[in-house]
Amino acid sequence: MKTIVYGNDHSGVELKKELIPYIEAKGYQVINVGTDTTESVDYPVIGEKVANMVAEGKADFGIAVCGTGLGISLACNKVNGIRACVCSDAYTAKYSRLHNNCNILCFGARVIGPETAKMLIDEFLDTEFEGGRHARRVDLITDIERRNRTAK
Ligand code: RB5
Repeated sequence: MKTIVYGNDHSGVELKKELIPYIEAKGYQVINVGTDTTESVDYPVIGEKVANMVAEGKADFGIAVCGTGLGISLACNKVNGIRACVCSDAYTAKYSRLHNNCNILCFGARVIGPETAKMLIDEFLDTEFEGGRHARRVDLITDIERRNRTAK
């Protein structure tokens, strides 16, 4: 069974209540590392938790949610090996996998509703990376990461 790590800040608590059961019903195990209360938390902390679990192979994919999806995606993308994308349409979610081999889907709980979120999740989780010329391009992204990597 594949594992999804799901992280959200305070803006995404209500949305998560509908989305985690939805992802589980698709046949995935879901690990919740997000907040479960509306008390304000810092999205970079949650983003790093999601990203580390994916980078360390403890989860196959991540889903990271903040108000816009932007802040948490920026945090996720600071972790080596992570390709996190902010999506609000199904086409982008599909191609984030097909061409970019993204491993974390981000969206904004204050931007989209639950039905759009489910469409994004479907496209993201149901689409395989196409490889070929796209693998070369993704490798070029990894090269940038290697050139700019600093020791932990
Ligand atoms: C929190 O209010 C908000 O700034 C956060 O959820 C996110 O949208 C940041 O990018």
